[in-house]
Amino acid sequence: MSSHGAPIPMTSSACGPLAGRAEVPGDKSISHRALILGALCVGETTISGLLEGQDVLDTAKAMRAFGAEVTDLGGGNWSVQGVGVGGFAEPDGVIDCGNSGTGVRLIMGAMATSPITATFTGDASLNKRPMARVTDPLADFGAQAVGRAGGRLPMTLVGAADPVPVRYVVPVPSAQVKSAVLLAGLNAPGQTVVIEAEATRDHTERMLAGFGAQITVEDTEEARVITLTGQPELTPQRIDVPRDPSSAAFPVCAALIVPGSDVLVPGIGLNPTRAGLFTTLREMGADLTFENERVEGGEPVADLRARFSPDLKGIEVPPARAASMIDEYPVLSVVAAFATGDTVMRGVKELRVKESDRIDAMATGLRANGVTVEDGPDWWTVTGLGHGNVPGGATCASHLDHRIAMSFLILGMASQNPVSVDDGGPIATSFPIFEPLMKTLGAQVERTGG
Ligand code: S3P
Repeated sequence: MSSHGAPIPMTSSACGPLAGRAEVPGDKSISHRALILGALCVGETTISGLLEGQDVLDTAKAMRAFGAEVTDLGGGNWSVQGVGVGGFAEPDGVIDCGNSGTGVRLIMGAMATSPITATFTGDASLNKRPMARVTDPLADFGAQAVGRAGGRLPMTLVGAADPVPVRYVVPVPSAQVKSAVLLAGLNAPGQTVVIEAEATRDHTERMLAGFGAQITVEDTEEARVITLTGQPELTPQRIDVPRDPSSAAFPVCAALIVPGSDVLVPGIGLNPTRAGLFTTLREMGADLTFENERVEGGEPVADLRARFSPDLKGIEVPPARAASMIDEYPVLSVVAAFATGDTVMRGVKELRVKESDRIDAMATGLRANGVTVEDGPDWWTVTGLGHGNVPGGATCASHLDHRIAMSFLILGMASQNPVSVDDGGPIATSFPIFEPLMKTLGAQVERTGG
């Protein structure tokens, strides 16, 4: 499945109970960071369980272009021979980050305080997404960006030859922006301070500390204040990437809505800044348990057990939880269609600037499948029809967005009629084994093109 190739139409149909173990791939956020931080150390970082999705492979390629030696050792094991903080070389060609907002924004941050110039591009989805949110703070360090209108890619970034540290209040809840500023701060002398009003995923902070950077995180009532001391010598690490909760969401949600299901999803990272979906599902009445809870590589991990849940209820999702489940709203909206009552999701403006406008993409597709959805600039409401009552039967546009494609395929697994997506190709960016894995559990997912 390639996000750049010909479209891959796919269809899913109602199936018998889903059962078995769903071993989902490594965490996408941690995989990007492992490669980038590995490239910023002198010496060899080894990574196991790396997500070998297209987004992360594009970041691996970019790290090579900046001078790191990145080697695929097979079986999810990778090695990175880094060049050190401030050691990035100027790439010969254009850096193509494909579909990945995380890739491009973090890499821009990592190079912004080195005296080199790089040009970035991406696919049709990435080239529509806003980049000023990172180039604005990077300009405070002394970097200069020239892109298309509205701060869109393709874009050239001229790194600061003489960077100064920055104090930055992140204006939108975004771990990508926070991380870009912290990575830029690595090669600025003195202290870079990032202040976020809402806590977003904190893998960059945890991993920077693990790599030996001096970094403190202070939580107050109003904000989280992160202080990084620049120009550290990072120490190479052994990183075991936990499995991705955002990918686990798909087999978990499928099990909740397909009658008779019982699925175990082992080894899932449950960092509190990522686990909001699971709290929400339990509040809706989901039969979802955490087994064998443990800490691995500094991150909380558990085996998730999800069983068919016949009495799901719509709820109001607290806006304060949005950052911890921002990528899971599309699949939550599918579960909400099988609940009774309204599921109200507020404070989710960021969903409009993801790989697609996710509110619009899901609302349009759910309506086409017989589900009532209302939406506004930063909210949407799904009116549940209850189990067995979702008509389905429509073909939905995936808008080059992996999570939209997978969400509609989950919808088809419990709808009265099959549900199709025009292009399942983007699934390869984050969850390349989605189709075979769901089939192993008992799902009926087919490629329906040509
Ligand atoms: C990510 C942060 C989130 C998320 C994305 C991964 C990260 O984006 O949607 O899939 O790894 O930092 P924002 O930071 O733009 O909210």
